[in-house]
Amino acid sequence: MVRYSAWSLLLLLLFVTGVPGVAQKTGSRKFSTYSKQISADLFGIFFEDISYAADGGLYAELVQNRSFEYSATDRKEWHPFTAWEYMTKGYGYGSISVETESPLHANNPHYAVLTIEDPGQEGIGLVNYGFDGIVLKAGEQYNFSIFAKKLSEQPVSLSIQLRNKKGAIFSEAVLDVNGRQWQKYTTSLTATENYDTATIAVISRSKGKVAMDMISLFPQKTFKGRTNGLRADLAQAIADLKPKFMRFPGGCLVHGDGLGNMYRWKNTIGPIEQRTAQKNIWNYHQTAGLGYYEYFQFCEDIGAKPLPVVPAAVSCQNSGGTWRIGGTGQKGLPMNEMQEYIQEVLDLIEYANGSVTSEWGAKRAEAGHPEPFHLEYVGVGNEDKITPEFSERFQLIYNAVKAKYPGIIVIGTVGPAPEGEDFDLGWKLANELNIPVVDEHYYQPPQWFLNNHFRYDSYDRTKSKVYLGEYASRGNTLFNALAEAAYMISLERNGDVVHMASYAPLLANQSHTSWNPNLVYFTNTSVTPTVNYYVQQLFSLNQGDIYYSGIVSFGDRSGVKDSNLAASCVKDKKTGNVIIKIVNAGSVTVNAELNISVFGKLSPIAELQVLSGEPGMKNTLQDPVKVIPEISALQVKKKVVYKVPSYSLNIIRIRARK
Ligand code: AHR
Repeated sequence: MVRYSAWSLLLLLLFVTGVPGVAQKTGSRKFSTYSKQISADLFGIFFEDISYAADGGLYAELVQNRSFEYSATDRKEWHPFTAWEYMTKGYGYGSISVETESPLHANNPHYAVLTIEDPGQEGIGLVNYGFDGIVLKAGEQYNFSIFAKKLSEQPVSLSIQLRNKKGAIFSEAVLDVNGRQWQKYTTSLTATENYDTATIAVISRSKGKVAMDMISLFPQKTFKGRTNGLRADLAQAIADLKPKFMRFPGGCLVHGDGLGNMYRWKNTIGPIEQRTAQKNIWNYHQTAGLGYYEYFQFCEDIGAKPLPVVPAAVSCQNSGGTWRIGGTGQKGLPMNEMQEYIQEVLDLIEYANGSVTSEWGAKRAEAGHPEPFHLEYVGVGNEDKITPEFSERFQLIYNAVKAKYPGIIVIGTVGPAPEGEDFDLGWKLANELNIPVVDEHYYQPPQWFLNNHFRYDSYDRTKSKVYLGEYASRGNTLFNALAEAAYMISLERNGDVVHMASYAPLLANQSHTSWNPNLVYFTNTSVTPTVNYYVQQLFSLNQGDIYYSGIVSFGDRSGVKDSNLAASCVKDKKTGNVIIKIVNAGSVTVNAELNISVFGKLSPIAELQVLSGEPGMKNTLQDPVKVIPEISALQVKKKVVYKVPSYSLNIIRIRARK
């Protein structure tokens, strides 16, 4: 979202007539510049299923615990009927149980068995409360599906009901379960009004016994209408970032809480009823409904290069403990399992890029995507402790990928902090192995980002490139966002050594946050992009591939801290547009002198986007658009002075003139 200022209507006029804005001509100054090629994949996103980002978030499934797989290993108070209620309202009686004897699939071992002795006046069955209630929109269609088999002689008729908060039924369909084998039954239901806290009930009004599993309800309107798709408003907020790449599925989620909890991509593809759900390292349940196929598809849908991260065959060093504290320590896969594991990584590349006649390419085609997903990057490991066990396993995986797929860029890992033992050992390993790119992570106070502008200026350009895979300034105020913006300017300046960068984490369900801050907060009915989101978006939408030094200089700086000011200038080769970014994270307006005489013919009217306000301002659920970019026009000459407001990020896009 951008806010058009009161001048918005004038904007069009300005482009046409060239009425002056706030820029002025500079006096003559000595001017020198150099240009360099920078990464065209610089700004992307990092998606992890943390804070209910996937199940209960981006993944559009409305039924919680659809396959009765929740258990006390997810969370100690959970069980197979979490989010479900057994309903015997109209004096019916019978029983409900969870069974494992003849499941739908070995990967999906639990299912519910409903025995109806007497259906009473209203029938008996199960009600699901969704993720804190089911949100339905008036007039929209919802796809229901269930796997069921009758366990009694007589068929069992199931009534599928959408109910409001008080239990009143407003939409109903009937499915007759008449087979003795598991079979998928489907129907669709329409919402008559808007409901924030609806429920779905599966009720039988006839005597009998029935087994039920994978009880699912999806809006028909998912992002791009995909089946097993994504929540449209959240996916759109991500798409609006226009990221150059998307890293998934984590984060700590990747290396998992113990070896058995590592994120194994093969468990997350194929029919959803055959995928292996498991405990999420962030203490809830992941269905894997949003799995590798869906991730690749989403990347394609939003024009982002996929960047999957696979475990480096070791578990999280904090497994069994709380985050970064205690635990059983890192464990490595036994060496006699490594060959199989390495093959799993190679198979992922084949799944993404292989021809339809290859084993794994065929599975991609079967899922509906015969064309390759054009995978270029694979991350191996996440913030792992750099132990001999890690290094040995990493090296085996790295060498195998390099040998079979020399075109794939492997991204290594250098620990969870901007310095320290793992950082040093990770870099040492990177230098020894010539790893093309390594993944740095840091979460620091805003002042750290302002003070560390120059971090990458001295990085050796002949060594591994950097993927700054996770960073955030520990807050969602405008000041936090400006500190990140100033830092992103330094990433552009160093775009010859920093190849990629992504803020973390991306999404958080406001009622289930495992981590703060995040880029976008959401509830079942709302999406709140933070100020940090707008910074990411402004940088992402205004990327270039050639960096020019010396285009912006700051004039009188009396009373202004240098670390509060940052500026960059990039050009987008394709359009010829020149883009200047200026941050002022201090309380005093500053003059910036722009000298664009080095460029060819440019439009005299630039587009100016400004994000500014008081440093403590935030976007909240109550006031989601408190700080958003304002757009206006700015007249530019070869040399001009631009007054940089206090606490602001300013993007000046000057179009090339043909
Ligand atoms: O982004 C949240 C967590 O922070 C990630 O899972 C982990 O990689 C990092 O420590």
